[in-house]
Order: sequence, then structure tokens, then C-alpha cells
Amino acid sequence: MDYFNYQDDGRLYGEACDLTRLAEQYGTPLYVYSRATLERHWNAFDQAAGEVDHLVCYAVKANSNLAVLNVLARLGSGFDIVSGGELSRVIAAGGDPKKVVFSGVGKREDEIRLGLEKGIFCFNVESVAELARINGVAAAMGVKAPVSIRVNPDIDAGTHPYISTGLKENKFGIPIELARDIYRQAAAMSHLDIHGVDCHIGSQLTELSPFLEAVDKLLVLIDDLAEDGIHIKHLDVGGGLGVRYDNETPPEPRHYAEELKNRLQGRNLTLVFEPGRAIAANAGVLLTRVEHLKPGEAKNFAIVDAAMNDLIRPALYSAWQAIIPVDSTLERQSAVYDIVGPICETGDFIGKDRELAITEGDLLAVRSAGAYGFVMASNYNSRPRAAEVMVDGEQAFVVREREQLADLWRGEHLLPEA
Ligand code: LLP
Repeated sequence: MDYFNYQDDGRLYGEACDLTRLAEQYGTPLYVYSRATLERHWNAFDQAAGEVDHLVCYAVKANSNLAVLNVLARLGSGFDIVSGGELSRVIAAGGDPKKVVFSGVGKREDEIRLGLEKGIFCFNVESVAELARINGVAAAMGVKAPVSIRVNPDIDAGTHPYISTGLKENKFGIPIELARDIYRQAAAMSHLDIHGVDCHIGSQLTELSPFLEAVDKLLVLIDDLAEDGIHIKHLDVGGGLGVRYDNETPPEPRHYAEELKNRLQGRNLTLVFEPGRAIAANAGVLLTRVEHLKPGEAKNFAIVDAAMNDLIRPALYSAWQAIIPVDSTLERQSAVYDIVGPICETGDFIGKDRELAITEGDLLAVRSAGAYGFVMASNYNSRPRAAEVMVDGEQAFVVREREQLADLWRGEHLLPEA
């Protein structure tokens, strides 16, 4: 459920803000986020875990705007980060580093040092080489680093190959059959403190079974480790819960949590979640204006002012996102269009074969754009990145200004005169 709805005047609103107005005021392409939706989705996880000791670590990569992070930090959120940059963002947004888990396969020494200096909750470690590196940095600083090992349970998440991470052939984590041995190696390292077991099997999962299969394997591992004298304090189940883009019916956090709680009964384990998409995707839309209609023999195109540099998911993963008119009362002739951007690539499309009643100048909203939208934007074709606005009831706030042309070449230099 989100707070982007048509109201009685037939226009699309974000909470109580008229999106037509926002587009006029701030220009397009424009990302609009809803505070109430972000809060609702975060609370759904927090309440689902309920009385079980838990930490909801929002996956910063999904949408790292400072205002988004700040809204969640105010609820008491933890954060899942994958770089020193993300850690710095969390801190700049008022997030608590003590509730941060640091994931990712390629942490640099300076990033590890930053994590240790800030006292993060845990490093999710993805290889033996990384264990040794973290141990070394911690030793040099005279501290102990809290670690979990990211275990790859070899489970098919049944999602797009680019966002599936829990199979043997993926670069992520340590194969489950090696995990016990590698935990023993970690336990022998002087400056590591073993805190948890971690996994993340993929993104946009629409079934519970792969998650539960993974957890069952991890619980067996946790019992084996106890036999080895290694006592695990938390279980990090990663992110990956899917959302509704079209007609998917992803499980709700409370159903997921129910199943987890059943499995955790009688164990003294803190539960860690790393949801990104489930919190942010449907908390945002991308507003774009129709520049031209270009009818053709094989296809009709609607050329809009947003492009693959603004929202790359359709081009990269053939992702489908709903595209709807912002004003549903306009009388237009309907036709089937490919909604494309102005970029010089055939892959530059936002949606294909969409029936829409539109004309030049109309506004469209691309739904479910709050996660992996702006954060994946680029300046390809020297296009400044869009502005971002957050609505909060009747108020709208610019949470990132539109990039200016001069921003595009800031830091570039000419060669000296001959
Ligand atoms: N934890 C780890 C270690 C991750 O790698 C990810 C996402 C998450 C948590 C959050 O997963 P989520 O709850 O959002 O599914 N750009 C792609 C998605 C890439 C996901 C990468 N990892 C897309 O637009 O579909």
C-alpha cells in the first residue's frame, strides 16, 4: 500500500500534494517520494518482528537520499551499507552507526577502518581474504571487529539473473559447505569477534520458500558452530522481499516474520533484516512529460523527457513499471505506445506496448520508482540528474535540487595551452 492515489478531481496525488502542481513548480523529470509510505513500510517490518529482538537495517543502496535516510533514522532504523560513502551518508543523515551492517564483496582498508572507527554493528564478510584484511585493520587499531560471514546457501531465488545472488555461480558469500571450516578460521583470528551468520539470496523475491529454505540451512550451520564452541548472536536474513510492480503477489513482512519466528523459537538470536526495495520502491514515482508523439507503421512512440539515465531498470533488467497519466480527466485518443527517452540507444525505454490516452505536453507517472531509481541515475548524454522531492501530507520539500549543467563538468580540466 502506498499514498499515491487519484483524488476526486481525477488527478494523481502524493499524499495530499497534487503531482501536476509539483511538476509545474519543480520541472520534470522529477522523483517524488512519500514520507508516510516509507514510514508505513519500515513499520511493517518492525511490527512484524514484534517482541523478538530485532534490527531493521534499511538497505541504503535502494535509495540513499539524505532525507529518506533521515526519515527512517528518526524511526530508529538501522542501515545496511556497502561502501564508506554509504556509511558517511547514514551519519550525515543522523543515522546511528551502531545499527549499521556493512555488506559487500570488496571492502577497502580505509572503508573497514571507517567502520571500526564509527563502531558499526557488524561486518558481513564475504571471503577468507576479507576476514584476514579486517583482522589486520582491527589489529592495527587495537580493536576487535564484529563479524558475520555471508553464507551462500546455493538456493535459486527464482528472480532475474542479475539480481539473484544465492547460487553457487554468484560472486557473493561463502559456499555453505565451507562455512563451518571458515568460521573456525575466523575464530582463530585474534582481532575478530564472531557475532552472526548472514545471507542474502537475491532481490524481488515473490515467494517465501527460498527465504525459508535458506534460513533452515543457516540454522543447521548455527547448531554445528555451537558444537565447535562458536556462539552466534544474530541471524541476518538479508533483504530481497519483492514488491508489486504489476500483478505480483509478494509475501507480506508479517507472514515472512511469522515463519521466521516459528523457526527461531527457543533460540536466543537477534533477527536482522536488510530490506531495501520493500521499503522504498512504492514510496516513489518518477514524473515525466511527453515531448512528442511519433506514430509509426510498426510502433507508436511517446518520447518523454525521462530516459534510461534517470531510470535504468527497464533497460537493464527488462523491468516492468506502471506508467499512468497524472491527470486522468483529460480527453485524449488512446493508442498503444512504447514510452522512450531522448537518449541515443535503442535500449532507452521506460515501458513498451502501453495503452495510453495522451498527447504532447501531458504528464506521466512511472510508479514504483522509489527504489533503484535515482540512485542508479547517470549523466549519460550529458543529461543533468533529476530533482527529488519528498511529500509529507500537504507539504512538499525539495530533498535534492536538480543538477545544473555546470555540475556536469565540475572537476574536469583542459590540457594546458600548447
Ligand atoms: N542486502 C544485500 C547484501 C544486498 O545486496 C541487497 C540488494 C539488499 C540487502 C537489498 O535488497 P532488496 O530488499 O532491495 O531486494 N538494482 C536492482 C536490485 C539490486 C539489488 C542488490 N542488492 C533492481 O533495480 O532491481
